[in-house]
Amino acid sequence: MKKLFIKTYGCQMNAYDSARMADLLAPLGYAGAETPEDADMVILNTCHIREKAAEKVYSELGRIRALKDDKSRAGGRMLVAVAGCTAQAEGEEILARAPVVDMVVGPQSYHRLPEMIARIARGAGERVEADFPALEKFDVLPQAVSDTGVSAFLTVQEGCDKFCTFCVVPYTRGPEHSRAPEQILAEARALAARGARELVLLGQNVNAYRGTDAHGKGWSFARLIAAIADIDEILRIRYTTSHPRDMDDDLIAAHGDIEKLMPFLHLPVQSGSDSVLAAMNRQHSADDYRRLITRIRAARPDIAFSSDFIVGFPGESDADFEATLQLVRDVRFAQCFSFKYSARPGTPATAAKKQIAENVKSARLDVLQKLLLSQQDDANRALIGTTQNILFEKTGRGPGQVVGRTPHLNPVHVEGPASLIGRVRPVMIEALTANSLKGRLV
Ligand code: 5AD
Ligand code: SF4
Repeated sequence: MKKLFIKTYGCQMNAYDSARMADLLAPLGYAGAETPEDADMVILNTCHIREKAAEKVYSELGRIRALKDDKSRAGGRMLVAVAGCTAQAEGEEILARAPVVDMVVGPQSYHRLPEMIARIARGAGERVEADFPALEKFDVLPQAVSDTGVSAFLTVQEGCDKFCTFCVVPYTRGPEHSRAPEQILAEARALAARGARELVLLGQNVNAYRGTDAHGKGWSFARLIAAIADIDEILRIRYTTSHPRDMDDDLIAAHGDIEKLMPFLHLPVQSGSDSVLAAMNRQHSADDYRRLITRIRAARPDIAFSSDFIVGFPGESDADFEATLQLVRDVRFAQCFSFKYSARPGTPATAAKKQIAENVKSARLDVLQKLLLSQQDDANRALIGTTQNILFEKTGRGPGQVVGRTPHLNPVHVEGPASLIGRVRPVMIEALTANSLKGRLV
């Protein structure tokens, strides 16, 4: 057996892809390893979304180089691959900047890995695969088999046609593409048979899903969710990440009609200022977003929202930033991610003249995060004393402890037997600790 170490950065789609790469390489004799020491192959599955994320890979490659040298001194060989979005964006540059790297493979080319490994063993041929091949990645990659926990990821859609002016995703993941519904349903059933009880449907723009079945019929995202909800073993369905523009009437109605669709929605808004939203090419106003939230809440009153925010986008004034704070106060979020704008090579906003000073970005991020944290805290506190249905996912750190999640995705620690894993049980929420809730079975 050879040892394969994969380190994953970035979003859940990368986590899904890493598991698929492991599945793909298993028949070649590669078994997963927890650490890179002594590995026969190391894959860094990278993220390019912000500069910090992209730079991480080079510091990691420095550490890998030392391990690779150790291995070759001992007479062995370590193959080093850079995969993911930085691989797609930088290609050949990675080979030039980090000679430790043997191959570079973009997110649409993972099915080429076995062929690349063979080429490199022969010491010949192309070491970069970073085009968007016509051949569909999902037709060639094995179906999800490894890493099936109680909650499993299932990629249903990839790529993005929205071209927000700050974002690298349309360039690193390519155009929007939806998998065929039959393929998704087969994978969902296989995951259920292997113990998955919750499916998290993934896509860069997941609610833009538009599948075509073998009869040439179009499937909306709402229809796909309904079909997955018909699988008995699947108890909970979630999806991420969504664009406000793609929340159509059917999908909003699904939040009211499909009980298995959990009342939690990650719906990034990025900013609360209309002029910033326009400069970002988000194609909606702050009030459009408010109205959308109101409509979704009407369909599913207990739904909780999360969002992504960018502060310090080029041209963002104090008044623009204040409008973001106002939107946060109006909507009330359960949990959010917020970032300082990071100029990304090749994206339109990088060329904008009015870049915001780093200290202004930091100060705004601080203010926004305090507000978001206080809302998150309020949402958590409101759960104390209530009974929540918990889907148990794993054992906890303490003995006799199991950990699960509320419908709103909050982790809850409970004293109970491991046999609860994979089941939903009512739990009385008793206390709020640093990062999670404590409760007792009722
Ligand atoms: N700078 C900062 N944050 C960004 N995001 C995407 N691109 C950038 C960028 N250039 C954030 C957005 C997106 C999340 C995944 O990352 O908020 O929703
Ligand atoms: Fe990072 Fe975006 Fe690529 Fe995910 S799709 S790894 S968030 S750049």
